[in-house]
Amino acid sequence: MLKFDFTNLFSDAIVNGISINDIKKYDEIIKNITKKIDDNKPGFLEIIFSRKWIDSVLDLKDFIFDFDNLVVLGIGGSALGNIALQNTLRPFNWNYLSKDERDGKLRIFVIDNVDPDFVASILDTIDVHKTLFNVISKSGTTAEAMSNYLIARGILENYGLNPKKHLIFTTDPEKGVLRKIANEDGIKTLEIPQNVGGRFSVLTPVGLLSAYAAGINIESLYDGAKNAYSKLSNPLMKNPAALIALTHYLYYNKGRNIAVMMAYSNKLYYLADWYRQLWAESLGKKFDKSGNEIKVGQTPVKALGAVDQHSQVQLYNEGPDDKIITFLKVEKFERDIKIPSVHNNEEALSYLQGNKLSALLNNELKGTENAILEHGKPSMKITFPQINELHVGEFFMTYELATTIAGELFNVNPFDQPGVELGKKITYALMGRKGFEEYKITKNGERIE
Ligand code: PA5
Repeated sequence: MLKFDFTNLFSDAIVNGISINDIKKYDEIIKNITKKIDDNKPGFLEIIFSRKWIDSVLDLKDFIFDFDNLVVLGIGGSALGNIALQNTLRPFNWNYLSKDERDGKLRIFVIDNVDPDFVASILDTIDVHKTLFNVISKSGTTAEAMSNYLIARGILENYGLNPKKHLIFTTDPEKGVLRKIANEDGIKTLEIPQNVGGRFSVLTPVGLLSAYAAGINIESLYDGAKNAYSKLSNPLMKNPAALIALTHYLYYNKGRNIAVMMAYSNKLYYLADWYRQLWAESLGKKFDKSGNEIKVGQTPVKALGAVDQHSQVQLYNEGPDDKIITFLKVEKFERDIKIPSVHNNEEALSYLQGNKLSALLNNELKGTENAILEHGKPSMKITFPQINELHVGEFFMTYELATTIAGELFNVNPFDQPGVELGKKITYALMGRKGFEEYKITKNGERIE
């Protein structure tokens, strides 16, 4: 299981800190919140009680392994879980390995943005004859996902390839244009459950298909998620999700409106990227649940150790008291490299020689962690004994629960995102979509062309 260390959040060294006694006052409140969550069972908890999503992906076994590439077309919650799973649980050179070296599993590409240089470079890389496109959009209306779908479909048509063989849609079980096209054209589908928001969907078919196609053990991901869920009804001090939510909430109220997640692992950096969306979009809200204007939200920031020691840590240490930091640590890396002794007479290098890179990286973490504490800033740490499916699944579920609990503490709805709608509507208007004319930007009463 993951190891959570909250000690440095409660140290006397923290400027305007919080104590364990402050936390304990919330015992009853947290008990009620976790009970409410358990009783109401938000959609993402379905994985704890049912195999239906995992089975829907396993059913596609004979269909997907004929291909060489899986290209995910989706954005936001429909992409970030896929990106996190691939980068965390597959080697970085995965897509450069031969099919034999990949043990018959697929190369995975995720096209989320509509930057033409980015899209073109992936399309140039793949042989479309050997490619399955997984279009992921819950709404089926998202401009980025839909335009990339149209491009993929156009390419299939140009090559005379059967869309039924090269497309799968992951979308709402009933509604939306993708569902309609799937029904009309006989395209295979997976379901994005109606009661699971995009950013909570990594362990639904949204993230599971690309994971399975790349040989990631999706059953183990679920086991890890179950480990996280099993702690939801624990007493507060043994309840990592509740402690994450409560400490971040209390520190936010003390002016720490930035939550940094600093991964000392290039792989885990992608979990910080996933977390960034979850925390921002779920908790950054103008109105509370009763409709009162509150404008809350803690800005999540991702950072990479040791790289950002040379970029961000000066600010974290000496800058304003507005941050709470979460370190991600790996105990045992999959690979390790021993630094050779090639300059025996150089005093300035000898301390490095003979050591392993993992030791250097983890000592750098320890150095930063202690320096942060000495500068009076709060931090917590999550240690991954190893980077594997079990621990990554536990991480996802811990943070989905923590975000839900934080939603209750902030008294906001963590499952909606009304603040992104206006920008979408203006884009539709600018792109000429019918029915959105009123959103076209005007200046001094004149339309900007
Ligand atoms: O978390 C969310 O709900 C969003 O980030 C969505 O995932 C994102 O906007 C994409 O939406 P859709 O899946 O409808 O294309």
